[in-house]
Amino acid sequence: MEFLTMTKLLAIVTGTSSGIGAALAKDLLSHGWTVVGIARRLISFDSDNYHHISLDLSDSKACATYFEGDFKEKYLTDDWSKIALINNAATLSPTGPLSEVSLVDLEKTFTLNIAFPAWFMGYIVSKSPAKTPLRIINISSGAATSAYPGWGSYCMSKAALRMAGQNLAIEVEEVEGLKGRDIKVLDYAPGVVDTPMQVQARSADEASFPRVQKFVDLHSNGQLVAPEAPAKEMRELLESAETEGFAIRRFGS
Ligand SMILES: NC(=O)c1ccc[n+]([C@@H]2O[C@H](COP(=O)([O-])OP(=O)(O)OC[C@H]3O[C@@H](n4cnc5c(N)ncnc54)[C@H](OP(=O)(O)O)[C@@H]3O)[C@@H](O)[C@H]2O)c1
Repeated sequence: MEFLTMTKLLAIVTGTSSGIGAALAKDLLSHGWTVVGIARRLISFDSDNYHHISLDLSDSKACATYFEGDFKEKYLTDDWSKIALINNAATLSPTGPLSEVSLVDLEKTFTLNIAFPAWFMGYIVSKSPAKTPLRIINISSGAATSAYPGWGSYCMSKAALRMAGQNLAIEVEEVEGLKGRDIKVLDYAPGVVDTPMQVQARSADEASFPRVQKFVDLHSNGQLVAPEAPAKEMRELLESAETEGFAIRRFGS
């Protein structure tokens, strides 16, 4: 596994094929990190330090099967001086009022947006070397604390993701076997970012998303942030001497 020892910083990033995840992977790679990216699609990063896993994170059975394999042996070795997990992959779908969404769609969204990221935090904690500092960023949103009509599944899952991070942090403080581990969790809202997810938000019809005009206006007024900006801020946070077990931050704050 010589290729994996070229850098000492490992970041596992979900959703590296688009938007914020792609910008973050690029930024990390250009600053000496090795990146393991997970998404259904693969884009090229032109770096030997990028390793891609093609996986549908809304398919819990496929994920369970994949992570029963050799992920730990391949990536979670004691070669790293720091391991980071960035739970970034998510979807806005299904949009529409709760009275109209299907149970199957809700279940898939909850698997991708909350069940997998929550489980993955625990998996990385349990499989990483106990001596290696672990930094976790869960990508949050204003939707974690504000209800948006038509975005129920997204809002609920982001609220739950925030609690999942808080829960992990309190477990690190109080559970025997985890106490004393250098594990920090950051719930990070990236701002309103110019990505395909924003295209989806402003392309919705008013019946399924009554606040669509707000997102049309944000775009036409040039108020969207480029994905490179939160990506840089996240990389700097990952490299900083963060002291809190659990913290909440918003881009630029
Ligand atoms: N854009 C914003 O304004 C904004 C604001 C607040 C929070 N956020 C959050 O930022 C994060 C990134 O969003 P973005 O705006 O960059 O969105 P995006 O451009 O749509 O990217 C979403 C990423 O998630 C991956 N993904 C989606 N479904 C997946 C699945 N079933 N399995 C595996 N990967 C999957 C996609 O990869 P594949 O399609 O290749 O699988 C893609 O790489 C999300 O957590 C989002 O909630 C975004």
